[in-house]
Amino acid sequence: MTGIFAGKVALITGGSSGIGRATALAFAHEGAQVVIGDINSAGSEETAQMITAAGGEAFFARTDVNRAAEVAALVAATVERYGRLDCAFNNAGIESSSISTANYPEEDWRRIIDINLTGVWLSMKHELPQMLKQGGGVIVNNASALGLVAFAGASAYVAAKHGVVGLTKTTALEYAKSGIRVNAICPGFVETPMLERIGLLSDPKAKQAVTNLHPMQRMGAAAEMAAAVIWLCSDAASFVTGIALPADGGYTAR
Ligand SMILES: NC(=O)c1ccc[n+]([C@@H]2O[C@H](COP(=O)([O-])OP(=O)(O)OC[C@H]3O[C@@H](n4cnc5c(N)ncnc54)[C@H](O)[C@@H]3O)[C@@H](O)[C@H]2O)c1
Repeated sequence: MTGIFAGKVALITGGSSGIGRATALAFAHEGAQVVIGDINSAGSEETAQMITAAGGEAFFARTDVNRAAEVAALVAATVERYGRLDCAFNNAGIESSSISTANYPEEDWRRIIDINLTGVWLSMKHELPQMLKQGGGVIVNNASALGLVAFAGASAYVAAKHGVVGLTKTTALEYAKSGIRVNAICPGFVETPMLERIGLLSDPKAKQAVTNLHPMQRMGAAAEMAAAVIWLCSDAASFVTGIALPADGGYTAR
């Protein structure tokens, strides 16, 4: 394959749908060999098939990002199959219900922190040693505009995503001298199955209310988030590390 990632290997967590799938397709389009780690086997196999049908290279390893042994196995399988790991997009995440802080069920709080924050840390914990061994690499974590500003009713999600931003900056400092860049993207609301599940796409009033939060008066598309990840992982961003890049139609500029 030709493209800016020809000969490179990209690992994407949460690649079965939405932003992760769009990014997996974009990496493959640019020539990368793609590895998908996800709990959704059917969706991930479909993403991998979309890539191979277009002449690319991809495989899926069922992985819960909240289980250390599974994340370790995902990185090991990547290296076993393709020999290296150049780019990682730590994207797997879950949505929040809308509940005020005092009423937030502890179980829900812990689950969101476990997957959306600890899952990103666990992913980097196992990706970084391989990148160090190779002498470099690039990591992008999927935070959110809600990693930069608050959203009433989503305390666990907002806390986890602010945590991802802090974790990203800290890791960037630690590995800057080792040739590893670490950044985050902060999407505004993006039309994906996640928003469908919380009713923001099917209910016209809710959809309009969310649309109005974006100065560009629309939600984002998954492909627009993929484009930001591709840029951050490319040599065009060779001096960029430790940033939390809003891709949000102006949401956080208000
Ligand atoms: N859609 C938005 O508006 C929006 C905005 C900002 C940030 N984000 C973030 O983008 C990321 C992707 O979300 P999306 O909107 O594409 O939703 P999505 O539901 O389409 O994708 C989420 C993916 O994560 C996977 N996943 C969930 N739990 C997992 C686990 N424990 N281990 C491995 N994989 C798991 C799912 O199977 C799915 O493939 C999430 O981190 C989300 O918080 C989304």
